[in-house]
Amino acid sequence: MKPVIALTKGRLEKQFLSYFSSLQYDTEPLIKKGRKLRIETDQFAFIFAKGPDVTTYVQYGIADLGVVGGDILAEFEPDVYDLFPLPFGKCRMAVATEQGKIWPKHKKTIASKYTSITKDFFKNKGESVEIIKLEGSVELAPILGLADGIVDIVETGTTLKENGLVVSEEFLKFSARLIANRSALKIKRNELAAVIKRLQEGQI
Ligand code: PRP
Repeated sequence: MKPVIALTKGRLEKQFLSYFSSLQYDTEPLIKKGRKLRIETDQFAFIFAKGPDVTTYVQYGIADLGVVGGDILAEFEPDVYDLFPLPFGKCRMAVATEQGKIWPKHKKTIASKYTSITKDFFKNKGESVEIIKLEGSVELAPILGLADGIVDIVETGTTLKENGLVVSEEFLKFSARLIANRSALKIKRNELAAVIKRLQEGQI
């Protein structure tokens, strides 16, 4: 059986493919995949899913390995083996709001996809907040008056800038990470060892 690798669709997928290709792996079938969600190469089977679902497929052993943002691991704390950071997908978690915004003195309203990280952050600061969960495009929330600010990942800063928002505080740094199913790591040790080693050594 070929090792199964779950990849986070979108930006991380593109960055992973360029890294994987730099390690001399064949990525052509992956680049040409179109809308397919499962692709096999000579050596691996790949599945493509959203970040939180990548951790689910790995946790339940459908995928042996996964490539996922550290932000997803911090937010959802899935029961997977967190192997090591990968040299891409670098971003930071930040509080952002509209330029010139005056924060309310007492309870702030914060919109985020990361409700657990947001809750911990403000709890540690001893600040009282109401958290509104959104699924994406959270930058809309302060602009439309749903929230005073957001907690979200910032990579290039373009999304904030183009929507008239600024960072008021940065508090965590992340990169993409390689994760593994706990039992696959033992049972399929021989099949997985080479690719894990190459993904780790490629960074040196
Ligand atoms: C993420 C994040 C920001 C954006 C930041 O969203 O939630 O919106 O990327 O990147 P930037 O600093 O390079 O502009 P994503 O593209 O994953 O989509 P989403 O908003 O639908 O979650």
